[in-house]
Amino acid sequence: MIDFGVGIIGCGNISASYLKLAPLFRGIDVRAVADLNMETAQARADEFSVRTETIAGLLAADDIDIIINLTIPAAHFGVTKQILEAGKHAYSEKPYVLTLEEGEALRALANEKGLRVGSAPDTFLGGAHQLARAAIDENMVGDIIGGTCHVMSRGMEAWHPNPDFFFQPGGGPVLDLGPYYVTNLVQLIGPVKSVSAMASASFMTRTIGIGPREGETVPVETPTNIHALLEFHNGALITLGASWDVCAHRHENMELYGSGGSLYLPDPNFFGGEVLQAKQVDDPTEITPRNHPFSISNAKDGQGNDRANYRCAGLADMAAGIAADRPHRCSLELATHVVEVMTAILQSAESRQWVDTVTTCDRPEPLTPDQARALFA
Ligand SMILES: NC(=O)c1ccc[n+]([C@@H]2O[C@H](COP(=O)([O-])OP(=O)(O)OC[C@H]3O[C@@H](n4cnc5c(N)ncnc54)[C@H](O)[C@@H]3O)[C@@H](O)[C@H]2O)c1
Repeated sequence: MIDFGVGIIGCGNISASYLKLAPLFRGIDVRAVADLNMETAQARADEFSVRTETIAGLLAADDIDIIINLTIPAAHFGVTKQILEAGKHAYSEKPYVLTLEEGEALRALANEKGLRVGSAPDTFLGGAHQLARAAIDENMVGDIIGGTCHVMSRGMEAWHPNPDFFFQPGGGPVLDLGPYYVTNLVQLIGPVKSVSAMASASFMTRTIGIGPREGETVPVETPTNIHALLEFHNGALITLGASWDVCAHRHENMELYGSGGSLYLPDPNFFGGEVLQAKQVDDPTEITPRNHPFSISNAKDGQGNDRANYRCAGLADMAAGIAADRPHRCSLELATHVVEVMTAILQSAESRQWVDTVTTCDRPEPLTPDQARALFA
């Protein structure tokens, strides 16, 4: 397969992961980086031996085919629009837009230009979540009728040196962490039909706990404590608790209840972990892993735990999809539906009404162990 020249706009925190992990994959060659702040771009360029461009220079560069948008959520729509207008494919961090209208505008532009848009998260391509997908598709626990998801902590300000965007409209735990959960639910059981939710914010300011701004407070201008109920087209009813106001809890990240048993999934923010099934109370057994390459630990997290981290897998799948003229899994249709579900949750909480979705999407194709191996360099 030919190499696609790849550029990055946005050289903050997460750009290091992309620059580090991209060489694992075939077909993508990161060549240049850009940022509003040239010093930030230069530092990353030096660290990973790529060249720096101005944003205009990167958009015009002849050797760049795909640009990864790693800016903050409020800038995602505008930057991805610029990338498409420059005639390049775009791959965005999540949430790839902040409203359904922005998603539809990018869909129209991408179609008009014949270009691809892809979006994180790609963690649902991980070994654990693909194992859960196979378990559901093979009817191991019957039809999924319900479930619970919990992503709750005391916030982001302790570890991120510039956490402002998390607490502004466009941030908050649903738009920031919801993509991992809602995307995984859609790949497992299909699209969402209707949502209802309630939301609050328990703390009006947050105090930065790390970096040059340690001790500075930032305002909270979006809900940080959300409880939602999702109705899926297949009939399943699933609770989603997403909060940055919770000191501790004992809920599983993700449980799915089938007509013939239950599945316990690991955190969909990560690629790996154990998947358990239980046919009766207190009888969980691990589902035998299937040697999926995206479940093998290759990194440590902030607490020193082993982690499987294959970020860029979705980008590599998009590049392979362009080359083979087949759809990519982290698609615009999937990302648009997920954004609609997340914004509907916030809208429902504000209006205190149920909200029906207007978009839908197909479940992305499963990624088998062999298909995953084929993405490696
Ligand atoms: N940090 C993480 O661990 C992490 C993990 C997963 C996903 N993400 C997502 O990645 C995105 C970036 O997060 P981050 O933590 O790297 O943020 P960050 O604030 O550390 O970095 C963002 C960078 O984008 C630049 N930028 C902002 N607006 C721009 C614009 N219009 N044009 C060009 N550059 C612009 C900023 O100067 C900054 O260097 C977010 O959407 C976030 O949700 C982050």
